[in-house]
Amino acid sequence: MKITYLGHSCFQIDTGKAKLVFDPFIRPNELAKGKVDIDKVEADYILVSHGHEDHTADLVYLAKKTGAKVLGSWELHNWVNKQGIENTHPLNFGGSWEFDFGKVTYFQALHSSSFGDGSYAGSAGSFIVTTYDHCFYFAGDTGLFQDMKLIPMFHELDFAFLPIGDNFTMDAEQAVIASDFIRCDEIIAMHFDTFGFIKIDKEKATKSFENMGKNLIIPEIGKSIEK
Ligand code: NI
Ligand code: MN
Repeated sequence: MKITYLGHSCFQIDTGKAKLVFDPFIRPNELAKGKVDIDKVEADYILVSHGHEDHTADLVYLAKKTGAKVLGSWELHNWVNKQGIENTHPLNFGGSWEFDFGKVTYFQALHSSSFGDGSYAGSAGSFIVTTYDHCFYFAGDTGLFQDMKLIPMFHELDFAFLPIGDNFTMDAEQAVIASDFIRCDEIIAMHFDTFGFIKIDKEKATKSFENMGKNLIIPEIGKSIEK
């Protein structure tokens, strides 16, 4: 499995069977300039955690360009359909669906959700993806919440994407607690440094995890990680 960081909370994951893009936000991201070319991003599926612009700014563009199937909440599916994109799959909390690359479970997140145009985007969510060789959790934007403890009752995670930027989501110290809740010691950081409110001290964040015997991977934009 090849994971490429496209900045903020946007990742491309090549499962070996399909290319999944999470939360497309590339062109407005100053930090991704010169490092990621949206026209070279391939996608078979686009998974969207919620409607906020820093997760959907390039959703319509990328979906139309690639023809990828868009996965997200029922409300997000309706909104995407209205933008002229028919290839969508709606989900809601607790539900799973088998795709050609594996199973996707839609799970809750503790966050708000609306589109840039002010329209309703349902509730913010997250994804648990199970492929033939890996199982991971993409938490989206979220604060710490107890229901995360339900995840390891049904899934044995290999790694998880957690937001660590504070202000709009949990910070690194709360993400350490989240990693306990989900029983996963291999965490990939997201939602940090993109704009002023979420600038982080990377060394401090890494230490918070190290102190608990866990590993925090802080990805570099445009670079890939093999799992
Ligand atoms: Ni958000
Ligand atoms: Mn966000």
